[in-house]
Amino acid sequence: MTMRILLFAVTIALAAPVCAAAQSVRPGINDTYLSPDINPEAQNKGFTSENRETFANRMEVAAAIGLKPGMAIADVGAGTGIYEPVFSKAVGVSGKVYAVDISKPLLAFIDKSMKEAGITNVTTVVGSDKTINLPPNSVDVVFTSDVYHHFEYPDAILGNIRAALKDGGQFIVVDYDHVPGVTAPSMLQHGRTDKKTVIAEVTKAGFQPPEEVKISGFKSSFFLRFKK
Ligand SMILES: C[S@@+](CC[C@H](N)C(=O)[O-])C[C@H]1O[C@@H](n2cnc3c(N)ncnc32)[C@H](O)[C@@H]1O
Repeated sequence: MTMRILLFAVTIALAAPVCAAAQSVRPGINDTYLSPDINPEAQNKGFTSENRETFANRMEVAAAIGLKPGMAIADVGAGTGIYEPVFSKAVGVSGKVYAVDISKPLLAFIDKSMKEAGITNVTTVVGSDKTINLPPNSVDVVFTSDVYHHFEYPDAILGNIRAALKDGGQFIVVDYDHVPGVTAPSMLQHGRTDKKTVIAEVTKAGFQPPEEVKISGFKSSFFLRFKK
């Protein structure tokens, strides 16, 4: 009996850190995207608003990555694919673009629009809140635009992103900082992470301290390049 109690106590003690690590840092942040009733057209309208810094500046953002023909890039949290045409062109027919998202309807929207545009080097991938579902050492770049603040399990997904990158590969985070008087109050409430928090979490995950690239039209957003 004593032995059984001891075994039970040991099991609980071993399981505790795992349970603690699996706590969501922002429960519910992805409810809209995980809903089967999501309307991709309506989402696309919002994502392609010229008032969105990442959309309005997407050509400059994409150019700052430094993509070359033949490279493989994963656009994690691709949404409706605002970056896919420009990434597709930059890596060329010998390259690969993986559009990863947790929303199947949004991925179906990307598949349809790529087909309509005759783009053949973009592959959609269903990810999850803890994995981007790509093989280890498979991509040169992991790119995220307005996605980092949606990561519910940063430790898990950052470890997975790092594993998917080739040595020396880049992890690009484009997101918005919390700038008093500039960042909209609704955005401040919505997003958990300011720039400082992103840097602290990503470096803790094993990436090198980032280079920040200035994007001329960014007022509240930032572009950080972390290397594996
Ligand atoms: C604000 S949208 C940004 C979409 C797109 N990157 C853009 O800039 O237009 C956030 C996207 O991240 C996706 N997302 C959230 N958590 C994710 C995760 N762990 N892995 C992949 N995608 C995720 C959501 O489904 C949603 O499409």
